[in-house]
Amino acid sequence: MGKINAAITAVNGYVPEDVMTNFDLEKLVDTTDEWIRTRTGIEERRILRGEGKGASAMAIPAVEGLLKKRGIKASEIDLLICSTVTPDYVFPATSNIICDKIGAVNAWGYDLAAACSGFLFGLETGRRFIESGAYKKVVIVGVDKMSSILDYEDRNTCIIFGDGAGAVLLESTEEEVGVMDAILKVDGSGFEYLHQKAGGSVLPASHETVENKLHSVYQEGKSVFKFAVTGMADVSYDVMTRNGMTGDDVQWLVPHQANKRIIDATASRMNLAPERVMINIHKYGNTTAATIPLCLSDYESQLKKGDNIILAAFGGGFTWGAIYVKWAY
Ligand code: UT7
Repeated sequence: MGKINAAITAVNGYVPEDVMTNFDLEKLVDTTDEWIRTRTGIEERRILRGEGKGASAMAIPAVEGLLKKRGIKASEIDLLICSTVTPDYVFPATSNIICDKIGAVNAWGYDLAAACSGFLFGLETGRRFIESGAYKKVVIVGVDKMSSILDYEDRNTCIIFGDGAGAVLLESTEEEVGVMDAILKVDGSGFEYLHQKAGGSVLPASHETVENKLHSVYQEGKSVFKFAVTGMADVSYDVMTRNGMTGDDVQWLVPHQANKRIIDATASRMNLAPERVMINIHKYGNTTAATIPLCLSDYESQLKKGDNIILAAFGGGFTWGAIYVKWAY
């Protein structure tokens, strides 16, 4: 038997219906549509509204649509990894809730917290489970309800993020396609620039943490920007070159959608033309773990079997990385 590869055999995205435009934000904080568009590339984002709806309310339709596209039953899934920093609850894992609601009765799963790099960390993990021969069908779903941890009085953070989910199915194949290589990195010293102060075991919820808005995203944007712009560009270049490719060999860059300027810097370092870079930041903003599968879903009809694709992200932690995928269908 030849080497087993982990092929992406289906992709699907889900965003909630409610749109929040830059003009809506102008009414909440001291900002302008012009500032947001020119500094980030974002025009609008989606917000999940409704009592009792958490991340799983987006992950479930994303995964159900995925299975429908591929024509398989939920009971065929072996493992479901949910990448998120906005789980439904601290416990049980959101993956448990998703598996229950979709009827994935033969699957096990867990949540993975790597912020904006969550989808890449999940993809690399799922790939290894497939390559080991242990499992045949693994779902990776990246989902975040960022609106649940935003302070809509803080213009530094609330303008960037949105809600959404995206999922891929990984299946074993002996063809030379699928997840080919990955470079993933963490640097915990980046904690100070981007984190959520309260709600964990260091600072559990109290009147004081709520009053002081410590359950919202804290970000020093300029510092994160500096690390992101070099981190994401370098790692994308490294995974490309160590696989013997130049920009001419790469059909698509699928960058995390945090800031159009970070995306442009990465494409430029790889020597890629803008038309080979997937962009949907204008529609959805930064949906954290969902940006990359949402892009793949939006551009799915343009992908061809054998395309060389580089997925890249940078985010809280710090976490960052790039994955080389050969498209399988
Ligand atoms: O995905 C997770 C990882 N996160 C990222 O990758 C985000 C990386 N950072 C960024 O994308 C950018 O730093 C931001 C978009 C968050 C901010 O853009 P910036 O160009 O770095 O702006 P800045 O924070 O340096 O602020 C520049 C000016 C400041 O005013 P002064 O001090 O120059 O008078 C800010 O107070 O813009 C002001 N400002 C705003 N003005 C209007 C900051 N936020 C806003 C706003 N509207 N929303």
